[in-house]
Amino acid sequence: MPTPRLDGRWQRVKTPRVPAYPHPGARTPATDRPGGGSAGARTPAVAPGARTPAVAPEDLAAEWVRRDEAVVWHGFTQMATYAQNAPIVVDRAEGRYLVDVAGRRYFDAISSLWVTTLGHRVPELDAAVAAQLGHVAHSTLLGNGSRVVVELAEALAAVVPVDGPHFLFAADGAAAVEQALKIAFQYWTNLGVPGRDRFLALGNAYHGDTVGSVSLGDSGFGTEVFDPLRFAVVRTPGYAEPGWAAHAVTAIEEHQGRLAALVIEPLVQGASGMLVAEPEDVGRVAEVCRRHDVLLVCDEVATGFGRTGRLFASEWCGVRPDLLCLGKGITGGYLPMSATVAADHVYRAFLGEDLGPRTFSHGHSYGGNALAAAVALAHLRLIERDGVLANVRARAEQLQEALGDRIAGRPGVGAIRQRGLMAGVDLLPTAPGRRWGRRVCAAAVARGVLLRPLGDTVVLVPPLTTTAAEIDHVVDVLGAAIELVAVEDLVAVEDRYVAESPVIAEDPVVSESRADPVVAGDTAGRIDAADPSGRLAADDDAGEPRG
Ligand SMILES: Cc1ncc(COP(=O)(O)O)c(C=O)c1O
Repeated sequence: MPTPRLDGRWQRVKTPRVPAYPHPGARTPATDRPGGGSAGARTPAVAPGARTPAVAPEDLAAEWVRRDEAVVWHGFTQMATYAQNAPIVVDRAEGRYLVDVAGRRYFDAISSLWVTTLGHRVPELDAAVAAQLGHVAHSTLLGNGSRVVVELAEALAAVVPVDGPHFLFAADGAAAVEQALKIAFQYWTNLGVPGRDRFLALGNAYHGDTVGSVSLGDSGFGTEVFDPLRFAVVRTPGYAEPGWAAHAVTAIEEHQGRLAALVIEPLVQGASGMLVAEPEDVGRVAEVCRRHDVLLVCDEVATGFGRTGRLFASEWCGVRPDLLCLGKGITGGYLPMSATVAADHVYRAFLGEDLGPRTFSHGHSYGGNALAAAVALAHLRLIERDGVLANVRARAEQLQEALGDRIAGRPGVGAIRQRGLMAGVDLLPTAPGRRWGRRVCAAAVARGVLLRPLGDTVVLVPPLTTTAAEIDHVVDVLGAAIELVAVEDLVAVEDRYVAESPVIAEDPVVSESRADPVVAGDTAGRIDAADPSGRLAADDDAGEPRG
């Protein structure tokens, strides 16, 4: 059986074949189940006080999955294999834990797709929704106002890094981005400046799934099918390339007369696997935009509301955008709300005669929903009252250390990137198509920690109120999950290797000079285990494509 060496590579020693499954009763001892859902045993604790199911938890859960797949179409999910990938069907939540229909508890280490900030069922947020229900649940903002929305906008105006902010509310992050790009486009039209119809966007960018935001986003993530619908943008490399800022600067200088705006995810390109930038690089690019009169749009849908240890990532970068996109954490993960924040000089370009052509003819039915506004307002106050940002910074430091000590350098682990409580751990599978991201996350879920991969990157995005003990637990479980999947696959590789190379198989330790079947812990790419030349293998596993 291959065992890890200290330098993160593998050595082959003869050991008895033991099953790689730590618990008896593991569901399917699969190294290659469809979808790679090799989850090991399902052992999350049953919530105290949970209703005792009359049937076994597995059966109860399976029944709900069956009902689910019969009628619900899940986004970014292949429904033909949905049920085979060990989905959980959530019934309720307790703090930072989700509880499934069978009463099993899962620490929500992805903050329900990065929206949950303080945890679930926060008494003050519950109360804010209930109180607002006593006033009104929703009234349109098209042409009329809503008291709680005014109060929210006033509170946000005091904290957003935008000069003279004005808030146009919507419900999803993609809608906030869509609004920003239409505002940027019309801004130049309203000013009477012709030809400003292009956007500069970065490689690996992700801005949402509407056609406009998909156009700003890079191809990939399984969205290639929409390439014919995408409008053209000027695209320069993303944060994965060290010289990304210099490329962006050159493009701004070259295309300044055509560019309506640069759209950027400040500090972290989240959905592409937590690619990170240095704050000063973002600041430098922003400064060049300013110098050349190109609008700067910061998409803080993922990074906003404390995720990076400050209320907004733009603050780390010393940047004050012309347009700021907010979403996800704005309501603490309670209700759908997003906002496009326009600086005063942008907003003023839209002022003109009643019903005139300067009007921004755009607005969503649920934009500025009163229940969402009430909870967003209470949420903002709690972040301040409870010193949440200090906790994010302390837990981020702890997470960085724990990942460095206990995950980095393990066999099968590549680069680790992190900003605040957004971290990505690259896995280096033994061969393309092994779906390590998905299988490692399934193994973590089976141990009571809810994770979701982006391809072969495991992302850790725990709630902002996560405790030190919970960070420790998440990292422990991640380590165990990686080890489980690595050993599973290496046993399979070993099987093939033994069959094909009987002479070498007799040698208990294979010398370092041999072409190891497993790539070392570098970040350069993967080595195809099936190909002894060690050529870089193409990644044919799109995996889970978004955050
Ligand atoms: C940076 C960024 N922008 C926009 C979006 C889209 O947000 P939503 O899913 O709410 O439409 C996301 C979602 O992950 C995101 O990460």
